[in-house]
Amino acid sequence: MRLLPLMSAVRRLLTGAALTLAVTAPALAGAQPAADAADSGIPIADEAVRQACGSCHRADDQGRLSRISFRRTTPEGWQQTIRRMVMLNEVAITPEVAREVVRYLANNLGLAPEEAIPAAFEAERRTDDQPYEDADVHQTCTTCHSMGRIMSQRRTAEEWRLVTAMHQGYYPFTDFQAFRRSGESDEPQPVDYAVTHLTERFPLDSPEWSAWSATMRPPRIAGTWALTGHAPGLGAVHGQVTIAALPGADDEFTTQTRYVYARTGRQVERTGRAVVYTGFQWRGRSFEGAAEATAADPDGLREVMFVDRDWQAMRGRWFTGGYDEIGLDVALSRVGAAPLVTGVYPAAVQVGQTASLQLHGGNLATAVAGDLDLGPGLEVLRLSSASPDLVTAEIRVGADAAVGRRDLYLGQAALADALTVYDTVSRIAVTPDAGMARVGGVRVPKQFQQFEARAFHDGPDGEAETADDLDLGLVDVTWTVEEYATTFGDDDRRYVGAIDGQGRFTPAEDGPNVERSGNRNNVGDVWVVGTYAGSEGPLRARAHLLVTVPNYLRWDPTAVERP
Ligand code: HEC
Ligand code: HEC
Repeated sequence: MRLLPLMSAVRRLLTGAALTLAVTAPALAGAQPAADAADSGIPIADEAVRQACGSCHRADDQGRLSRISFRRTTPEGWQQTIRRMVMLNEVAITPEVAREVVRYLANNLGLAPEEAIPAAFEAERRTDDQPYEDADVHQTCTTCHSMGRIMSQRRTAEEWRLVTAMHQGYYPFTDFQAFRRSGESDEPQPVDYAVTHLTERFPLDSPEWSAWSATMRPPRIAGTWALTGHAPGLGAVHGQVTIAALPGADDEFTTQTRYVYARTGRQVERTGRAVVYTGFQWRGRSFEGAAEATAADPDGLREVMFVDRDWQAMRGRWFTGGYDEIGLDVALSRVGAAPLVTGVYPAAVQVGQTASLQLHGGNLATAVAGDLDLGPGLEVLRLSSASPDLVTAEIRVGADAAVGRRDLYLGQAALADALTVYDTVSRIAVTPDAGMARVGGVRVPKQFQQFEARAFHDGPDGEAETADDLDLGLVDVTWTVEEYATTFGDDDRRYVGAIDGQGRFTPAEDGPNVERSGNRNNVGDVWVVGTYAGSEGPLRARAHLLVTVPNYLRWDPTAVERP
């Protein structure tokens, strides 16, 4: 087996034994910084880090630890490296010390907001990988993990080279799979091209980091926040989060959250905890009802959010599931002294109809009907209730109200494009237009796929899918699964799984199925179809769904938040 000698080679490099590999000096963990990093590198003052890591990563006379001082990354990035140190490099470290090391490194060798936000999809565990500006690098580096893992790192030239050497040392097939091309060519190898590109694009030293690290501090975010969110398939959520500082800590918080799913009225209360890294990266976990896992909510929701520089807003994703695929997109706005409107439900109202509107936000208790201005053609009949975070207004949409969006004002609070006036539903759309689920439930978790159906008005030009189309929000549809015929007598539909009334597809069990021809797994591809009962007959839309095998080998980053 080729892997083992290479691994011991890595270890010998660390102890300083001379050895020549494709990987050359400096030794993978222990050498002096290379020339290009001579005046670079971030000194590490923390005793816990020096103690836990310094036996292999030697400090130089400027307090810089080899390897460690020459890269910056997210809390997840640090966590992942430490996990490898434990698993492959036999580092002994307790979870408590590891957490402190992650915190120190994420705060002192972290990312600035401008650096972290483009890679937020990685920490937010969004399953859709984003396109990357350089298609060649994308091709070379995303065979096994997402580009987000790379975009959330900053390194010296030497460190970009060494991390590719780490791949070649531990996973020799990387060369064959992605890093080097077969056959003769004068062109640089893909891995060399990638290292050159990444060195330029994601350097250790950046103006963003020097500016941010100079002003960075724990954010003072204790207080009341209005929550708005979107749960795919389930629609808008509105509510409130109360954040309290944990006594004795300035970057740790507890949370009490309550919210309602606007379409169904289902109410949820959660209790949670969070750490804010690098002055802006919220990492938390909350559980329904209790402060810890219960049978009803064994995993809770992981919370990944980014606090705005003015401490007035934060946004991100809360999620769960075997593949982190279930969750909601959230935005929090600080409730200060002034009235605040963060969302309206329903967000689309029909010409010539009356409607009962819920306005969610903060400091709303003293609102009166005269404060509410919905724009031309919309008449406020009365407010039927007003509490601090919810106002209910009865309104009438004039028969000649113009189709289009309306800004909303309530006293001095404003919400742009809060409400859409429409006359008819022109069409519906099912999103995502290509979904993926993975069979599971026996030996591995299932990966679910949530679909949603939205109604659209074609806008003034009367043409579908143009820039003036109006999104009317989620609508109730009847969901069905239909065959996507790729072969004679295709019968995937009978085996792949089922979709529920809210558009969530649950795949069938993993493992060979003796009832299928060829003893196949319950995999296949199908159409997911939504049918809406429109006023002028049913409207249909469909999306493609691929139901595939489990992800048996996962190169995923880990979570850093604690329960
Ligand atoms: C027992 C020796 C040992 C200890 C202790 C150790 N490491 Fe390492 N470290 C290595 C070796 C070997 C490598 C090179 C191979 C690799 O990257 O896994 C390495 C590489 C690294 C790298 C470069 C990885 C990259 O992504 O390019 C970082 C960063 C790092 N270690 C961080 C740490 C931190 C943080 C600690 C303390 C919690 C630590 N190490 C403790 C042996 C050690
Ligand atoms: C053949 C699969 C494969 C390819 C291709 C690949 N990687 Fe990786 N990468 C991995 C694995 C596996 C890990 C996790 C190693 C570990 O922590 O055990 C990883 C981890 C990383 C890390 C985190 C290292 C750390 O210490 O936290 C970085 C950065 C990275 N890869 C960069 C790249 C770049 C840049 C490329 C393209 C030049 C690339 N990868 C291509 C498999 C791959």
